[in-house]
Amino acid sequence: MRVAALLMAAGRGERLGAADSKQFLPLLGRPVLRRAAEVLLRDGVVDVIQPVCAEAERGRVDSILAGLPARPAVAGGATRQESVRAGLEALAAEGPELVLVHDAARPVVPAGTVAAVVEALAEAEGAIPAQPVADTLKLAEGGAISRTVPREGLHRAQTPQGFRFPLLLALHRAAPAGATDDASLLEAAGHAVRLVPGSEDNVKITYPGDLERMEAAMLPRFLPR
Ligand code: CTP
Ligand code: MG
Repeated sequence: MRVAALLMAAGRGERLGAADSKQFLPLLGRPVLRRAAEVLLRDGVVDVIQPVCAEAERGRVDSILAGLPARPAVAGGATRQESVRAGLEALAAEGPELVLVHDAARPVVPAGTVAAVVEALAEAEGAIPAQPVADTLKLAEGGAISRTVPREGLHRAQTPQGFRFPLLLALHRAAPAGATDDASLLEAAGHAVRLVPGSEDNVKITYPGDLERMEAAMLPRFLPR
């Protein structure tokens, strides 16, 4: 097996504050988790998906992903970093060459992004989709600005993030708690991480209103012209 993809779904969606975790909410009739899996598979470069979710949701996740090339879900941990580690350990015996790590809360990834991440791994140990920051950035506390932060070179990191599997597994096994994404483990260890173009459409559902805005943006594409 060459390329495996971790589908990260062990979060509780506290900022969204819905009764159910956001990965299980419907986006135009299909669970966000199912759509996130389908966009991972669309470019035809991912061989298998390894879902990671709360222990109690394993059966539900397996049935949502029925019919797709997905392994049985494994239980995640209290932090995303712990959950990624659990997913990597579940793949360790299989030993894929490359691994992608994707947020189940990102159900919209443009065609070609997954393939671009995998292609970039021919020349780097990590590759991530990222968007340049467009807004002027203000450092502020208590409503008062202390300064303007130069935005030149600043990017917003998205997923799926791609890595050589043995390297990411080794870095996670050695990592202290507190990394906010997987690429940062490579950066800290001095490994090359490539940027590929991200997309304004690749939104991580996080706050109330995000899912509704996403549906409103998608709907016209599903209607006849
Ligand atoms: N995630 C995970 N394990 C955790 C925390 C998060 O697998 N312990 C996953 C989430 O399910 C999500 C992705 O990582 O798909 C990005 O995390 P985030 O947007 O923070 O999701 P939640 O943690 O669910 O949301 P919140 O932080 O608002 O509770
Ligand atoms: Mg979270």
